[in-house]
Amino acid sequence: PLVLHVLGARPNFVKAAPVVRALGELGVRQGIIHTGQHYDALMSDVFFADLGLPEPLANLGVGSGSHARQTAALLVGLEEVVLAQNPDLVVVYGDVNSTLAAILVCAKLGVPTAHVEAGLRSFDRGMPEEVNRIVTDSLSDLLFATSPDALSHLAAEGVPAGKVHLVGNPMIDSLFAALPSLDPAPVAERLGLTGRYAVATLHRPANVDSPEAAKELVDAVLEVSRLVPVVVPIHPRGRTRLAEAGLVDGPTVKVVDPLGYVDFLSLVRGAALVVTDSGGVQEETTMLGVPCLTVRPNTERPITVTHGTNRLVTPALLPAAAEKALADGAATPAGELPVLWDGEAGPRIARVIAAWLKGDNLSP
Ligand code: UD1
Ligand code: UDP
Repeated sequence: PLVLHVLGARPNFVKAAPVVRALGELGVRQGIIHTGQHYDALMSDVFFADLGLPEPLANLGVGSGSHARQTAALLVGLEEVVLAQNPDLVVVYGDVNSTLAAILVCAKLGVPTAHVEAGLRSFDRGMPEEVNRIVTDSLSDLLFATSPDALSHLAAEGVPAGKVHLVGNPMIDSLFAALPSLDPAPVAERLGLTGRYAVATLHRPANVDSPEAAKELVDAVLEVSRLVPVVVPIHPRGRTRLAEAGLVDGPTVKVVDPLGYVDFLSLVRGAALVVTDSGGVQEETTMLGVPCLTVRPNTERPITVTHGTNRLVTPALLPAAAEKALADGAATPAGELPVLWDGEAGPRIARVIAAWLKGDNLSP
């Protein structure tokens, strides 16, 4: 049997690496299809290198565009490749447009699918990712959940419990694997940081697409930079808008290109504070015990608030929250760390897939 992994965007690579490794250890024949949704070397190639992912079988080169144009290109490209490869199972990850398109293509072709990171919900359909999550989960044959709250969301949407497996978080597997290589000192030195610093990543459309939202956010980040130097590895999506709003390189704000996986997490590990609107970074700071302020009105990852170091803030509340987090020092997680975030999610997923490929009845 053949398993295909459809990957397109930065967080997909991080989530897939442990699954690909574990399936390889079980001797399962597999290949990666890179959709080309992310294509800059610093948004893609560096992750294949840092995470030890094998070369893709194909890169569809779909690139950027409006949701309709990008999704249309993804559908056309993925249909061709799935027909040509004739896989027994297609594995999709997270909530990006490549995930949505792969699920639609496979559903129409009758190819079975597995969704890694199923059941997360922000309950905010204004987020493109929320739409992608709902559609993807409703069409998947195997659903792998990272946290218990996902199980109740899926049950409420009528997904049969027998399709769902609580396996832990493969993004945390990648973090565990990288941990021995995470050294803040060389990265901080390269960036000219001497003492305490904060790291900020911002790319949600609601935060960076309109000049008004970008201005409010940048003003708040500049306030934080009066307390502590802020490094901003800038996602291409926010590059122009945030710069226009005043987020420019200076003595206390360092705007740099996106960082590779190991460099970025090294920097986060040594940070006094993280400000973000990323999904994955909320989880990684929880595991690293670094205080995290998430500039969003909601999160599909509430476990990082109840069990971790994450807090939701508005731009207006960000400076005061940053001041408090810096004064409090190293964050104490709010509770026990999330169950099964132990570095073994990849092997758990691989075992379920291998059994499924053999035709075992997987209903609990
Ligand atoms: C996508 C995901 C988002 C995820 C993020 C991770 C969707 C709907 N959104 O958002 O959920 O959090 O990836 O990083 O799938 N660009 C480049 N170089 C690249 C890629 C993109 O310059 O390699 C620029 C282009 O101007 C493009 C813009 O970034 O229009 C947005 O890219 P896109 O893939 O559409 O969405 P992201 O904002 O990256
Ligand atoms: N990341 C990285 N370099 C950066 C910013 C983020 O390697 O400059 C990593 C981060 O550690 C996490 C992943 O990219 O593993 C998260 O991707 P992103 O924030 O783009 O997407 P989201 O999680 O919001 O979908």
